[in-house]
Amino acid sequence: MTIMNILVVGGAGYIGSATSQLLIEAGHTVTVFDNLSRGHREAIPAAANFIRGDLANPQEISDALTQSEAAAVLHFAALIEAGESMVNPAKYFRANVGLTINLLEACANHHIEKFVFSSTAAVFAASDDPISETSVIAPANAYGETKLIVEKMLRWFGEIHGIKYAVLRYFNAAGAVGPRGEAHQPESHLIPLVLQAASGVRSSISVFGSDYPTPDGTCIRDYIHIADLGSAHVLALDYLDSHDKITCNLGNGSGYSVREVIDVALEVTGKPIKVIESPRRAGDAPRLVASSALARRELGWLPKQPAIQDIVASAWRWMSAHPSGY
Ligand SMILES: NC(=O)c1ccc[n+]([C@@H]2O[C@H](COP(=O)([O-])OP(=O)(O)OC[C@H]3O[C@@H](n4cnc5c(N)ncnc54)[C@H](O)[C@@H]3O)[C@@H](O)[C@H]2O)c1
Repeated sequence: MTIMNILVVGGAGYIGSATSQLLIEAGHTVTVFDNLSRGHREAIPAAANFIRGDLANPQEISDALTQSEAAAVLHFAALIEAGESMVNPAKYFRANVGLTINLLEACANHHIEKFVFSSTAAVFAASDDPISETSVIAPANAYGETKLIVEKMLRWFGEIHGIKYAVLRYFNAAGAVGPRGEAHQPESHLIPLVLQAASGVRSSISVFGSDYPTPDGTCIRDYIHIADLGSAHVLALDYLDSHDKITCNLGNGSGYSVREVIDVALEVTGKPIKVIESPRRAGDAPRLVASSALARRELGWLPKQPAIQDIVASAWRWMSAHPSGY
């Protein structure tokens, strides 16, 4: 393993902050670059350097790469609400594609060796089978399309500028690690929303669509613990020591419907949860469950907390300790 200086872009956010901590524990030196538009200063590990900056400002990116002496960049910064991307696609293409061009251009100018990109299951078409890297690519929402475009850009930055890259397609990130948990503002993810309904922070949880072609009619997703996502980043950086690129899925391979997740939350919290049946939301694929065989084989990745009960329980512990978020 090569110990590196790493710039973690979006490292004040949910997955970026947890990954930063794991990188530090693995011996790397981490500098977080984040505009704090969605992230939390308190989530950044104490041992990380912090530069408050915005991807919209190329000079700030360049200064951060110089100051951090980064050899690798991890790119977590994005707008992440699939539903909103179906209302305001321009906002998503500008933020997720346009600003990533600024970052990639700066990385090329600074001769960055390795780049790890947070992609998503939303690049794939829904499928009844486990989704592998060769499954049909067909985003159901504009958010997924923005990620797919960045994946394609990376290929060219790799070929032309020699940047080695890992594209990690997360399925549904969930759970908490120590003092770091999920506190998106606004929150659009099922597990924190359900737990907020259990804790009384919100009065109810809306189930968007009960007429999907799934056994109970609600959408099915593959939930993966953020500690397991984080460890894949550490492994991906090692992998790029001896390889030029990899694109792989990160999930547990088990699908849970919205109703099943609510049932798990009822069990874990022991609290009542009021459910409101709502119409389908634009851009929701019925079923997205990963095959992560490639990540397991190539990266040596092995999720350590695959059980949905453990994932929900870790999120509940964090929420109980942080009732109003950070
Ligand atoms: N949460 C999930 O389930 C999930 C699933 C698949 C993929 N992803 C991807 O993982 C990444 C991280 O997701 P997350 O849940 O941690 O999101 P998050 O919103 O918690 O973190 C994103 C961070 O990026 C920062 N940021 C946004 N725009 C910026 C800009 N212009 N300049 C500097 N910083 C900026 C925000 O302040 C925030 O701290 C995203 O790229 C997302 O698309 C997330």
